[in-house]
Amino acid sequence: PLGFSSANVSRLGLWAAGLILVLGLLKLIHLLLRRQMLARAMESFPGPPTHWLFGHAQEIQQTGSLDKVVSWAHQFPYAHPLWLGQFLGFLNIYEPDYAKAVYSRGDPKAADVYDFFLQWIGKGLLVLHGPKWYEHRKLLTPGFHYDVLKPYVAVFTNSTHTMLDQWEEKAREGKSFDIFCDVGHMALDSLMKCTFGKGDEGQELPLAVRDLTLLMQERIDSFQYHNDFVYCPRPHRMGPQAMTLCAPGPDHVIRGRKIQSRRHLDFLDILLGARDENGIKLSDKDLRAEVDTFMFEGHDTTTSGICWFLYCMALYPEHQHRCREEVCKILGDRDSFQWDDLGKMTYLTMCIKESFRLYPPVPQVYRQLSKPVSFVDGRSLPAGSLISLHIYALHRNSAVWPDPEVFDPLRFSPENVATRHPFAFMPFSAGPRNCIGQQFAMNEMKVVTALCLLRFEFALDPLRPPIKMPQLVLRSKNGIHLHLKSLRPDSGK
Ligand code: HEM
Repeated sequence: PLGFSSANVSRLGLWAAGLILVLGLLKLIHLLLRRQMLARAMESFPGPPTHWLFGHAQEIQQTGSLDKVVSWAHQFPYAHPLWLGQFLGFLNIYEPDYAKAVYSRGDPKAADVYDFFLQWIGKGLLVLHGPKWYEHRKLLTPGFHYDVLKPYVAVFTNSTHTMLDQWEEKAREGKSFDIFCDVGHMALDSLMKCTFGKGDEGQELPLAVRDLTLLMQERIDSFQYHNDFVYCPRPHRMGPQAMTLCAPGPDHVIRGRKIQSRRHLDFLDILLGARDENGIKLSDKDLRAEVDTFMFEGHDTTTSGICWFLYCMALYPEHQHRCREEVCKILGDRDSFQWDDLGKMTYLTMCIKESFRLYPPVPQVYRQLSKPVSFVDGRSLPAGSLISLHIYALHRNSAVWPDPEVFDPLRFSPENVATRHPFAFMPFSAGPRNCIGQQFAMNEMKVVTALCLLRFEFALDPLRPPIKMPQLVLRSKNGIHLHLKSLRPDSGK
């Protein structure tokens, strides 16, 4: 019987090996056919030379990849094919009319990229599409009504003061320091207060987000990790920080709130109270996905925006000075900003927008065409094609922005904005899938940066210039190191 069963086992093994081989072959045929379809669709778009195995993945993974794409954009006006490995090819676009042709429609996100998010943030607004996306977007929009946003000015103020008090001590040491981490904690703390009415007591979440965004970007850029079976996210891939984020987190807060009495309105109240026209509310799973989506989209992006803005202020002291004068004047002899003040910060707002232009917090977004598209120059793409909108290269496109490397806030004066293409500046994307948190983010940017400028003077550390690195959001490989000088009369300086 032993011989019989071992023969059986080896026959079973053969069958299994055969099955794996057939499945592997089928997958390969599928990939090759898809590759052929994508390549044929982009035939009329010349582009940079492609490595036979890596495509353009090697260039994209190197430091300076963002500026590499800007140089490609010079060479290939409008668009060029971008291959991440052999099987995943996007049309990379960076021209306003091209952006309008795709982004004014509501085509779905490219699953090849956004599905990597599912394990982390679930199916929230960012990755949903079709009727479910529409329904969620409608349910969540009231959460960004200005009546809801108004009290957040005080929340941003409190969280910022806590950070600035810590900076007073660091500044006293007279050395430059990396502001990215502190701003990340502050942005998360205020976001949690706006979402749950409860701040961030731990230190792990921003670090976990940093680990996870690094893993995710690595996965997008490395074709060998595109397949779930090959990638198989093993715990050792993730740092301990990332593990904490994958563990159940906000569930207990959500559960607690369901049985709590009402306090002031926050996002969680809006989510819990949201009903469609038939009175149907979000399921627990949907609720969790939306909360996780907000937690990621709502703090990593603003952190990047605030840090690069302060870097710009350090780089251009004359603009820093003008912004500070403006906010001092608005504040007068009061000690905190109010809702009405935000509309008066015109120069600061222009500087924020100019820093978003040069350092867009979200440098690249992707779509998959649900129907064919025709571009202004007569070229077209069929349904199923993949699009990468390179916001960073769009914002440095010299056909749209004269002297694109020059920091000039006046580009955003009302006269200049009026004559510019509406799809030339897209930090929050545009069209139906634009950023739902845009107003929230602008308010936070204004309050936080105004308070920073009132309290400190910012200067560069010439020994540690930041190295731009796309990691879902725009980060710096070596942090953003600035010298801070306290402006408090009692600071002893
Ligand atoms: C400076 C700050 C921010 C920037 C630059 C930014 C940028 C963007 C961009 C470019 C998109 C489109 C993404 C894509 O097409 O894949 C987006 C979508 C989104 N953002 Fe933001 N964002 C910011 C802040 C926020 C905040 C504060 C929140 C929430 C509190 C938020 C929530 C979302 C959500 C939920 C989506 C998906 C919307 C949809 O597809 O319907 N964002 N954001």
